Amino acid sequence: TWTTAAFVEQAIREIRARVGEKRVLLALSGGVDSSTLAFLLHKAIGDQLTCVFIDQGFMRKYEPERLIKLFQEQFHIPVEYVNARERFLSSLSGITDPEEKRRMIGYEFISTFEETSRRLGPFDYLAQGTLYPDVIESANTNVDPQTGERVAVKIKSHHNVGGLPKDLRFKLVEPLRKLFKDEVRKVGRAIGLPEEIVQRHPFPGPGLAIRILGEITAERLNILRDADLIVRQEINKRDLYHDYWQAFAVLLPIRSVGVMGDQRTYAFPIVLRIVTSEDGMTADWARVPYDVLEVISNRIVNEVKGVNRVVYDITSKPPGTIEWE
Ligand code: XMP
Repeated sequence: TWTTAAFVEQAIREIRARVGEKRVLLALSGGVDSSTLAFLLHKAIGDQLTCVFIDQGFMRKYEPERLIKLFQEQFHIPVEYVNARERFLSSLSGITDPEEKRRMIGYEFISTFEETSRRLGPFDYLAQGTLYPDVIESANTNVDPQTGERVAVKIKSHHNVGGLPKDLRFKLVEPLRKLFKDEVRKVGRAIGLPEEIVQRHPFPGPGLAIRILGEITAERLNILRDADLIVRQEINKRDLYHDYWQAFAVLLPIRSVGVMGDQRTYAFPIVLRIVTSEDGMTADWARVPYDVLEVISNRIVNEVKGVNRVVYDITSKPPGTIEWE
């Protein structure tokens, strides 16, 4: 029978056997897969592992700080923090098309990753949080024709970006490759990852950048981060987090008229997107209790400067998508 303890032991033996004395690079994303991966590798090979965290500036409020703190203070795993916020923001300046936005974010991610691995390298191996379903999906694509080994031709990031240059074609170490998501969660929990990482809702690689329609600016990011925090706080407070597949805020780049005190306001609307789903392929809008919607709306309008209206998205998927971009 499968137990987490047996898995962890076996994974550590396999990592040591595969990697030997060589150096391994790992990009942390903040999710359960890469966090579990980092823990296993660090246990297996200690300082032969280099963890980098590329902060694009699109994570939710307090998330980057919490991640770094967790790794450094609780797990004692050093993390190389790469602050790429300015860089992503300026390369996205003026871009409003959703596809172009994603492409640009993917491109910046690759080039930041490349620079970082050259600066800290050389590395022989790239650690990836490939899960069993991904292995099946990419069965023939990532195999070196000479050696028959799986190699990193692309970085499997949540951006699904590709194109690593030839000299950065690392060998892969993929200790989670036989696991399903629920098994990774079990392992994650067993090694002491906090529930907020283990049970986190799916979060897209481009993060908040695809939840701001139109141009992304520092001001809009701040508004969305504050609104998003309120959504999560109110949902957590009522223990509803696990009832939903995702629950988040979207900022629309249009303005509507409102009134506050005796002042006319002209500000952005926030859309609440809260859905139920089994796998993300189809989804339904959640029948969130009215009083919860009410508190979220009141708090956002009162506490988040720049927002004067909150609307609830009642579109299922299909025909809608879960995200707005
Ligand atoms: P849509 O919006 O297509 O989303 O209904 C389906 C699920 O996928 C997530 N999503 C992403 N995840 N990188 C990711 O890792 C992405 O670029 C991305 N885009 C959407 C979305 O949050 C939902 O759970």
